[in-house]
Amino acid sequence: MPRYRKHCCGSVSVSPEIGTVTPKPQTGNDKPRIFRLVEDEAVINRLGFNNEGHQAALQRLKSCARSTMIGVNIGANKDSADRIADYVSGIHAFYGVARYFTANISSPNTPGLRDLQARESLAALLSAVFAARDDEAAKAGIRVPVFLKIAPDLTEEGMDDIAAVALEQSLDGLIVSNTTLSRDGLHDQQQARESGGLSGKPLFEKSTIVLAKMRKRVGPDLPIIGVGGVSSAATAAEKTRAGANLVQLYSCMVYEGPSLPGKIVRGLSALCDREKLTSISEIRDSRTNYWAGKNA
Ligand SMILES: Cc1cc2nc3c(=O)[nH]c(=O)nc-3n(C[C@H](O)[C@H](O)[C@H](O)COP(=O)(O)O)c2cc1C
Repeated sequence: MPRYRKHCCGSVSVSPEIGTVTPKPQTGNDKPRIFRLVEDEAVINRLGFNNEGHQAALQRLKSCARSTMIGVNIGANKDSADRIADYVSGIHAFYGVARYFTANISSPNTPGLRDLQARESLAALLSAVFAARDDEAAKAGIRVPVFLKIAPDLTEEGMDDIAAVALEQSLDGLIVSNTTLSRDGLHDQQQARESGGLSGKPLFEKSTIVLAKMRKRVGPDLPIIGVGGVSSAATAAEKTRAGANLVQLYSCMVYEGPSLPGKIVRGLSALCDREKLTSISEIRDSRTNYWAGKNA
């Protein structure tokens, strides 16, 4: 399923990420598995990586224009006996078409997947993924970056562990965050009872706090993509102030329509003009301390 990503530095553009794709096809969870919380401008999903597998996705991607910057989000099959091998297989399968990879270890809808965020499992995963990437890079002569997508439901110790491994292993960047298991502050109490990951406007605060806390831990140089509840130029700018180099969005397009990324790009350009910025990156990190000081 495509998502939209927007650069927030220099030229501003929109580009899609596909996935999560698993090696083998799988049907995902039973329907219904997506729920709209209209009053909250939120979504709960428990899709469970329904997809047709690597080969089908690869054939489709090969027919896309090469000029499009496509990120490929890779994951593990629900019944996989070796989840790390599934991520490695994703790197090999899509190396020729991906402009970047997202290793998604944070979906709440594949039981046990988030355990890969624990320090030792994460170190083992990233070593294997980077070995595969380096192997492909040597053959292709192009080093495709790998980003790690994390949950917003982490403890302070969990964030410490991820930051330590990310820095030790020279990760290319973090994506903060996936959907949350929290149901705090929702109006639609009936839909809130559905299991799955919550996204959209109510995720903004929590995901922005975790983004800022991760920025404090990893320092200024590691790229971070901010995602969760981005619904406007103002919220995209706030992710940037909290520490994001780039911004992604998904759920708010359900409510604002497919023109939302373009509106945000224009809004950020207007903000640059108003505040006499040559690049939106000039506001980056200006409110990291404020956001990192809050409780997620
Ligand atoms: C219907 C739906 C399906 C999703 N599927 C995936 C997925 O397959 N892989 C993934 O990494 N994130 C997935 N996400 C999470 C989003 O990519 C994003 O991280 C999250 O929804 C927070 O951003 P948002 O508030 O802009 O939606 C999904 C979200 C929704 C709503």
